[in-house]
Amino acid sequence: LREHEEFTKVKNIATIELGRYEIETWYFSPFPPEYNDTLKLYFCEFCLNFMKRQEQLQRHMRKCDLKHPPGDEIYRSGTLSMFEVDGKKNKVYGQNLCYLAKLFLDHKTLYYDVDLFLFYVLCECDDRGCHMVGYFSKEKHSEESYNLACILTLPPYQRKGYGKFLIAFSYELSKKEGKVGTPERPLSDLGLLSYRGYWTRVLLDILKKHKGNISIKELSDMTAIKAEDILTTLQSLELIQYRKGQHVICADPKVLDRHLKAAGRGGLDVDVSKLIWTPYK
Ligand code: ACO
Ligand code: ZN
Repeated sequence: LREHEEFTKVKNIATIELGRYEIETWYFSPFPPEYNDTLKLYFCEFCLNFMKRQEQLQRHMRKCDLKHPPGDEIYRSGTLSMFEVDGKKNKVYGQNLCYLAKLFLDHKTLYYDVDLFLFYVLCECDDRGCHMVGYFSKEKHSEESYNLACILTLPPYQRKGYGKFLIAFSYELSKKEGKVGTPERPLSDLGLLSYRGYWTRVLLDILKKHKGNISIKELSDMTAIKAEDILTTLQSLELIQYRKGQHVICADPKVLDRHLKAAGRGGLDVDVSKLIWTPYK
């Protein structure tokens, strides 16, 4: 019932202030009741505490000494940094991040139990601090081999390749774990578009370079993408034939080139040599 209420409730908070941006929200988010009579919320861009009035935020900024998300910086390349935040060690931050994210996520339920999750927060850093551009969450232990629960690029930063970077990052973590992964379902329209784009680009690049036959299993081992996701992607690209009860990849070079041309920009790449991380135990 609670979930159903969340889905059907009308939007409460109309705009938020976050760092140097004022952002219009997309969906309802279950902020504590005392915030529900407010149209605009003011977020501290570093600790993600939220307030009803600008003066409160100004006072907060004078004493808040965070300049980046709490937790470990596990990746840095140029001005881009990724922080890993343990929901158990930083409960309030995790909850604040979920409240914020739900404003842009339609069908996802909010996780009240942030203990069970790690949050990977991507930042653009300058001399004023590390400014969050987006994040993804990941269960510490997933029975269903999910390597990503929720993903968000904040609206001012969307369509610049950060989404694909976050997706690529989630697969790099899976590779380090020696596991295949898949995003939690359901995916939003934008989520599906981004994943389809990522899977397509990664698989086409390998097929283009690879000489001779290659199986879905081998592709899965190389990419940490779950076999089912590889199959649906290659099927949608019409690169799969069904012969004698088996799916066979038919990577005709001309078809590959045509798809590669249509596949769009590669986006921002994850430089694996700059990822310093060991799997959660
Ligand atoms: N219209 C059309 N296509 C789009 C759009 C759009 N508005 N946004 C993204 N895409 C597609 C494009 O194919 C794009 O690739 P291209 O630019 O090479 O054509 C691809 O998605 C990825 O674009 P990025 O710039 O890498 O992604 P972005 O930083 O915009 O983030 C994301 C994508 C995270 C899905 C973002 O749209 C978002 O935060 N949406 C709101 C929250 C959401 O829906 N999250 C996914 C829920 S599902 C889940 O969490 C498991
Ligand atoms: Zn703060």
